[in-house]
Amino acid sequence: MNLLTFKRYTVTAALPYANGPIHIGHLAGCYLPADIYVRYLRSKGEDVKFICGSDEHGVPITIKAKKEGITPQQVVDKYHKIMGDSFKEFGVSFDIFSRTSSKTHHETASGFFKTLYDKGVFKEEITEQYFDEKANQFLADRYIIGTCPNCGNDNAYGDQCERCGSTLNTTDLINPRSTLSGEKPVMKKTKNWFLPLDKMQPQIEGYIDSHKDWKPNVFGQCKSWLNEGLQPRAMTRDLDWGVKAPIDGADNKVLYVWFDAPIGYISATKELFQTQNSLAKNQQPTTNLWELYWKDKETKLVHFIGKDNIVFHCIIFPAMLMAEGSYVLPESVPANEFLNLEGEKISTSRNWAVWLHEYLLEFKDKQDALRYTLCANAPESKDNDFTWKDFQAKNNNELVAILGNFINRTLVLTHKYYNGKVPAAEAYTKTDILLLEEISKFPAKISASIEQYRFREALAELMNLARAGNKYLADNEPWTLVKTDEKRVRTVMSLSLQIAANLAVLMEPFLPFASKKLGAMLNLNTDLKWNDAARTDLLLAGHQINSATLLFEKIEDDAISTQVQKLENSKINNQENKSKEENLQETNSGTPVSIAIADSKSDISFEEFSKMDIRIGTILEAERVPKTDKLLKLLIDTGIDKRTVVSGIAAYYKPEDIIGQQVSILVNLAPRKIKNIESRGMILMAENAAGELSFVLPDKPSTNNGSNVK
Ligand code: MF3
Ligand code: ZN
Repeated sequence: MNLLTFKRYTVTAALPYANGPIHIGHLAGCYLPADIYVRYLRSKGEDVKFICGSDEHGVPITIKAKKEGITPQQVVDKYHKIMGDSFKEFGVSFDIFSRTSSKTHHETASGFFKTLYDKGVFKEEITEQYFDEKANQFLADRYIIGTCPNCGNDNAYGDQCERCGSTLNTTDLINPRSTLSGEKPVMKKTKNWFLPLDKMQPQIEGYIDSHKDWKPNVFGQCKSWLNEGLQPRAMTRDLDWGVKAPIDGADNKVLYVWFDAPIGYISATKELFQTQNSLAKNQQPTTNLWELYWKDKETKLVHFIGKDNIVFHCIIFPAMLMAEGSYVLPESVPANEFLNLEGEKISTSRNWAVWLHEYLLEFKDKQDALRYTLCANAPESKDNDFTWKDFQAKNNNELVAILGNFINRTLVLTHKYYNGKVPAAEAYTKTDILLLEEISKFPAKISASIEQYRFREALAELMNLARAGNKYLADNEPWTLVKTDEKRVRTVMSLSLQIAANLAVLMEPFLPFASKKLGAMLNLNTDLKWNDAARTDLLLAGHQINSATLLFEKIEDDAISTQVQKLENSKINNQENKSKEENLQETNSGTPVSIAIADSKSDISFEEFSKMDIRIGTILEAERVPKTDKLLKLLIDTGIDKRTVVSGIAAYYKPEDIIGQQVSILVNLAPRKIKNIESRGMILMAENAAGELSFVLPDKPSTNNGSNVK
């Protein structure tokens, strides 16, 4: 649909689960294209709100909490902060980054559910659900894994198979097992509230069919679900972490995470206006302004997501909104495919990822280099690959050699010939006039691509403008001409400076940091908007520009090989873990591994194991405990605190040799008095067949104090 038929935009980016940091797959799939789109709309002068936050409910959170031996609230607090900080530093320009544990969200989600309930939308049904007798808990969604009935993947989740992308119910899985205990679950009756998607199919079908303009991958997926026939889906769960189901007879039940999370977009919009309201006390109340962004027919609602979220945003959420009745429906859902890393699927558990917060530390002030590569390689219509070599090449051969080079030559020559004052153009030649015409077409060309969510194409077009600039300089050679035809040089430099100014405006959505830097170097009016870039007189004769610095820096081989090595290490670790598992299997099958090694102890459950809080720490101080020959008194920085531990290692280590040594330490062992010293925790030591002790250590120096050992 045409850009101008809407008065305002509500643009959302999928709420990331607060169970881990952001990696480049998330960025390329959803956050970067959303940010480019929103920055572009703002530059067009459109009224737009960019909404995101963390998704803090659901089984992924509680599983992570169990694994780390902390509470779900501690998990979400930690990752909400890490994610929010790294998005901000990367220039993802959300108007709000909220969270689904907020009070406003609980009220909004619960109120929405109550409205549907009161309208009689839900079908109340008692069904048999999986139950883990050991853990004494129902096993919803990701608490169950098993074999996917569609593709045979052995590790499909209870709600979704990540291999074939199909949406599942826990009872669809073949050979289900509990992720809590590994046990085969039993069936137990329970009452839940279902959204009757089957009955709503005609309405949903009408909605999807009115959006043949959607990206083929999105439209196609929707059609295939509709062809299979929609099934009722439970909107409540027998869990205790989430938004409490606001109805009688639903104690110990919460809302399905995919019911509450998309409502998070609405709650965050409300919160945005609450804060704006409290900031501007003298202005008229804006309390209900949020409704304009959700209920007014002239609002365009756009959801940026990754492909695994399509069914929830194109079918289930619209069905919820239809059932409620007062909301607009998503107008567009530009979902991307997946980004791979060095030819392999990104995997959190195998640490096969480039983490945003680490990138930002390791490549200081190079946000735009990553933004550029991820946009140029965006998995818009098929899965795509990120490689460090390609990242380096894109930065060095495109950003530096094309865009940066054009800007640098133009600015340096302006300072050299005119002391930084924009010269007046003299007579234009025919080619100049053609070039001016070409320049004025760029904003519209790039717009057309962005409005169709073709960001790679848009970025390539932007680079063509820089190429045109470079070609103009190369064809005219002002550095040679300056000796013979000063007049002509003035025109050439004036025109080149106009191109630089237009680039500063047009690159803002893609490369906001470089755009700002260039704007400052050109001393440009900061109010310039997208459409101004069609003009060819942004810099008037006599305008003084500021001193020039490099817009982009080369990335050297060293930096790249460090990253490649980091991934290699992940590979080695994964291999080691795999062979450890294989060894374990051998022992399990009865073949003794080595006679000198102690017999294995009896099995414990994963839950028992995960009660242990083991961290990496560093020894700050060490001294002998008087009148003993085995004990050392150590002061350890555990990342959480500094504490004293008494350890029986004096026979193997001299105190002065181990200051600064990293160790693994069990931090939640109940305190004990040893020789009248309170010892809090235990250092983990490996004991060989001869009874000698050595520290158990991470193999990467980047493993900082406080890191969990699990
Ligand atoms: N947390 C989900 C994921 O990371 C996305 C939720 S999007 C929302 O896959 F709409 F539910 F918010
Ligand atoms: Zn499958």
